[in-house]
Amino acid sequence: MGTQHLYGDAIADVYDRLFPGTADAEHAADFVAALCPEGGKVLELGVGTGRLALPIAARGHHVHGVDASARMLEKLREKDPEQRVTTSVGDFAGDPLDERYDVVLLACHGLCGALEQQSQVRTLIRMGEQLADGGRVVLETYEPKLYQGQNGPVVAAQHLIGGGLLVSTTYANSHAQIVHVQHSVMDGSAQSQVTETNRWVWPSELDLMARIAGLELEQRWSGWLKEPYGPDATRLVSVYRKVDAP
Ligand SMILES: C[S@@+](CC[C@H](N)C(=O)[O-])C[C@H]1O[C@@H](n2cnc3c(N)ncnc32)[C@H](O)[C@@H]1O
Repeated sequence: MGTQHLYGDAIADVYDRLFPGTADAEHAADFVAALCPEGGKVLELGVGTGRLALPIAARGHHVHGVDASARMLEKLREKDPEQRVTTSVGDFAGDPLDERYDVVLLACHGLCGALEQQSQVRTLIRMGEQLADGGRVVLETYEPKLYQGQNGPVVAAQHLIGGGLLVSTTYANSHAQIVHVQHSVMDGSAQSQVTETNRWVWPSELDLMARIAGLELEQRWSGWLKEPYGPDATRLVSVYRKVDAP
């Protein structure tokens, strides 16, 4: 394993205070559940602390989560004593697992965590290889125009549930499609730094990369409630199926 675990390991202790179980996670679970047969199988790559995997499992589906960070998976297990979600440590661009799944999910702009176009394509190929007959790949990514053309650092602050503050400074490099985010976690007297780097993906680029992976776009929305995708969208929820799917 390379350095893919570093972001998760560094953010694990505060992640659930930044992204608590929200209505959005329940909507995501409903969206995924609707694409699965009853008691179907879901693979979530970059499962993290189970923010989405646990509500999907609560809807009666078998969920397996892969994550590069053992620390994130520890947090998931603390919340899931019954082990409704099984997990393994691994790279989402890595070799496929033997099992095949009705839905393969990569949410929360996880694909952008792969920092080269090639590794993003490899991740999509792996997602397609994991599909059962009739299965669907589901991706949540952000709209790149949020960063494209951004001049200089942009600072934003967010409260941590239970007190504390996360101050995030974003540096975008439009030429390289790369954004570096320096997160400063201020929690009582403790302060820590977490760096996150993403490579953003244009919607048309995403569809072309998916084509290279043998997948074609079936649905695109701007949120889990199937809000229409249009010029004001800040994120994309895309559903792909295999090109030769019936
Ligand atoms: C922003 S979190 C999202 C977690 C969860 N999907 C959610 O929606 O809350 C991204 C997760 O992807 C994991 N990750 C990043 N790069 C990865 C890689 N190359 N392979 C596997 N997991 C990775 C991180 O460790 C982290 O847990």
